[in-house]
Amino acid sequence: MTKNSFTRRKFIETTGAALGGSLIAGPVVSKASGKPAKRKQSGKMRVAVVGTGVRGVAMYGRNLVQNYGDHLEMVGICDTNPGRLAYADGYIGAGCPTFTNLDEMLESVDIDRLIVTTWDWEHHNCVIAGLEHGVDVVCEKPLTIDADKCQQIIDADKKYENDVYVTFNYRYPPHRAKVKELLMSGAIGDIRTVDFHWNISHAHQMRYMQRWHGESQRGGTLWVHKNTHHFDMINWFLDSDPVEVYAHDALEIFGSNGPFRSTNCRNCPHADQCDYHWDINANDHLRQLYAENEHYDGYIRDNCVFRHNIDSHDKHSALVKYANNAFLNYSLTSDTDHSGYWIAFNGTEGRLEGREGGWPRRNEQEWILTPRGKDPEIITVEPSAGGHWGGDPLLLNKLFVDPDGADPLHQSAGTRDGVMSVLAGVAARQSARMGRPVKIEGMTSLKPHAKRPSDLV
Ligand SMILES: NC(=O)c1ccc[n+]([C@@H]2O[C@H](COP(=O)([O-])OP(=O)(O)OC[C@H]3O[C@@H](n4cnc5c(N)ncnc54)[C@H](O)[C@@H]3O)[C@@H](O)[C@H]2O)c1
Repeated sequence: MTKNSFTRRKFIETTGAALGGSLIAGPVVSKASGKPAKRKQSGKMRVAVVGTGVRGVAMYGRNLVQNYGDHLEMVGICDTNPGRLAYADGYIGAGCPTFTNLDEMLESVDIDRLIVTTWDWEHHNCVIAGLEHGVDVVCEKPLTIDADKCQQIIDADKKYENDVYVTFNYRYPPHRAKVKELLMSGAIGDIRTVDFHWNISHAHQMRYMQRWHGESQRGGTLWVHKNTHHFDMINWFLDSDPVEVYAHDALEIFGSNGPFRSTNCRNCPHADQCDYHWDINANDHLRQLYAENEHYDGYIRDNCVFRHNIDSHDKHSALVKYANNAFLNYSLTSDTDHSGYWIAFNGTEGRLEGREGGWPRRNEQEWILTPRGKDPEIITVEPSAGGHWGGDPLLLNKLFVDPDGADPLHQSAGTRDGVMSVLAGVAARQSARMGRPVKIEGMTSLKPHAKRPSDLV
């Protein structure tokens, strides 16, 4: 999206008299920073969503309207696909204006926070458009998919007064907050190494490979789309930036490796033989959201997982060196019978370890803390209800209920954190391709720090 010639200010100048109070004043230059100043929110937060796929219509759509009405008002919904937008309008039930063009929504509606739930490769355009229009932006992970787009967001975030928030919901589950608290308290001293190994189930990986996530120019490969969560968790836990990544990856199961292929699942002649067969039409919600609107933009939700243009990987292994000298040994193995992870922090004063899934009991709330020279102690954390181990509602509370509240565990994330997690994935992607370590410094104007600065960008 290029910078608008028809800006919010211009729109207000030309239409302000007719529209009267429906628009707020245009950007005013802040005396302190010389940047266009942030608009002041009055009353309930006015939020708008761009991107009405499953994420946009549910967590940030119907859920916000039905459960957060005391704190916010949904004032605009946008998607480039008019059919999906019409379905989303009814499903979300906000009764607010809808748009197929983001600039038009930003220019005609008074918005405090724009929620970006579009395709990953479109995030930077939407984030920058929001900032240009004097709006705070809440962007789904990953912030974007490559270093150039990261730099565009960094430049815009520095230029404009408004803020960018990245939705790292993996920081919010209480059992992960407990780890952060223990590490911040020095329970195991300085961290020397981290072992972190994540498995994705067959069904989960299938859903990735059936759509854009399987194509690197759209999803940035799982090194970015999925692993942005994992690299961010470690950046956050260590409170340090990655400096160098050495990685391997492979595509062993999907794409051209498959024994047969077709256009899409629902009319595949190999359905009986295929372990990944899935009928989108059996799910009313997904049928109405996606299948019935394919003719508008060609977005197919149940592509063949063996199509030749899949170039995302299904196994990943990386060694990441951090600016504070910690080493991360990381892997993501996709398409397994197991779904979950195992993580261990080895510190100068002890060890902290936990796992989720793949165990006969539910165990993500349990951590084993072994102070140096002492017996292990089990630390149990009370679970919290909601998606992503209870992290989603806690993230939403921070973003929309108490955005200015204290953040002692630094769970809120901005452009800088979003970029650093993307760059770790981009470096891994490049390293695996080139067969040598790749440095983070020089990829963007952000320099890695041994202790991360508190600035959002
Ligand atoms: N944090 C998490 O745990 C989590 C979980 C699921 C999805 N996500 C993220 O949420 C985002 C959305 O995921 P999804 O599964 O709903 O995707 P999706 O592909 O189902 O939907 C994306 C929607 O964005 C629309 N769109 C794309 N570019 C646009 C633009 N420039 N302007 C307007 N509309 C545009 C598309 O038409 C589509 O309807 C992704 O970035 C994904 O990574 C995060």
